[in-house]
Amino acid sequence: MSSIDPAATTIMERIDALARLSEMPDALARRCFTPEHRRANDLVGTWMQGAGMHVHQDAIGNIIGRYEGERDGLPAVMIGSHLDTVVMAGKYDGMLGVLTGIACVDALYRSGKRLPFAIEVAGFADEEGVRFHSTYLGSCAISGSFDLRSLERSDADGITLADAMRSFGLDPDRIGEAARKKEDIIAYLEVHIEQGPVLENENLPVGAVTGISGASRLLITLEGEAGHAGTVPMGMRHDALAAAAECMCLVEKVAGDAGNVVATVGRISALPGAANVIPGRADFCIDLRAPDDCVRADAFGKIQTGFAQIAEYRGVSVKTETIHDTPSVSCDVTLTNAIAASIEACGWRAMTMPSGAGHDAVAMAGLVPVGMIFVRCEGGISHNPAENITGADAKAGLDVLSHVLNNFPASIRP
Ligand code: HGY
Ligand code: MN
Ligand code: MN
Repeated sequence: MSSIDPAATTIMERIDALARLSEMPDALARRCFTPEHRRANDLVGTWMQGAGMHVHQDAIGNIIGRYEGERDGLPAVMIGSHLDTVVMAGKYDGMLGVLTGIACVDALYRSGKRLPFAIEVAGFADEEGVRFHSTYLGSCAISGSFDLRSLERSDADGITLADAMRSFGLDPDRIGEAARKKEDIIAYLEVHIEQGPVLENENLPVGAVTGISGASRLLITLEGEAGHAGTVPMGMRHDALAAAAECMCLVEKVAGDAGNVVATVGRISALPGAANVIPGRADFCIDLRAPDDCVRADAFGKIQTGFAQIAEYRGVSVKTETIHDTPSVSCDVTLTNAIAASIEACGWRAMTMPSGAGHDAVAMAGLVPVGMIFVRCEGGISHNPAENITGADAKAGLDVLSHVLNNFPASIRP
């Protein structure tokens, strides 16, 4: 691109501004209901206002801007993504979708154009589930599928979700007020980095998403017997951490053998955590995904059977808690076809593709038809500070989203 488009430049500059709102001094981490979340909401809220939107924060802490259609009060197309991040995050995951939505509305606002529907842009409070291990909190509240049991979940400091919300100025008892009615939202669109290498391999800046893999998040606790590292013979140990290590290798093998299943152990801890003590307890989490829910369930079953066998001969106990389980979701065919047509109208080959990553579209699909636009990211790297996109590709995502809005499928319009 000879000179980066001003709107794309604004998106990239705003990405950098949000990346500075971090809980870590030298990397990006922004969990829900933290002071950094508050500052991100405030900053995004001013950008929404600057694009002619009426802005409010809903009962779960989502920041939402609304741009009226040809007349006030029309049902809205919601454009959204999340403002929270993982730890040591990339700066585009989530933020790109919110900022691209704002840029679309800004272009309409500056041209004085109104569409036959309203547009709402949502910056969701928590999609990653890093703080409380329950993902899609913001989008579940909007779609009416918020699990109130999540309120009792505690973070690493023992703060419950309910108390974290209170400290953020929210009343957990009023979460229900965030739920939107089907008749108010006609569709949900999300622009998101691909977080994989396919578009880059295909030399394409954008793609249309056909569906999102189902996912389970499991907490595993193994209890053995703490003991003296110097005196207990190897054959008489009930080493919880060694058992966990064997379990983790089993997880990798089951997923590898299943084909089209991915499984990750992203965190493990052992107690008491001293070098000269045989660990009596080990805790780890498993992230298990597949496009096909039956295949994922089968893999889960194999993992549980294997864990029981390992626990049996090592003389440890094993407890599995499923803390999150979402079925795979199909994007709406009409919306996906409209996105593909817009990609072609913008001058690229329209490629359709599944998403292995989860997105707020999963929760929103319970309320309205959803469509997603993927934007190429360098090397497919994500959930990593090296996550990167070009301004030209940000522009491509913006152009496609704008084209979809201005040529919105009549069959879905109010
Ligand atoms: O984990 C995911 O797929 C998403 O980044 N929350
Ligand atoms: Mn993510
Ligand atoms: Mn994301």
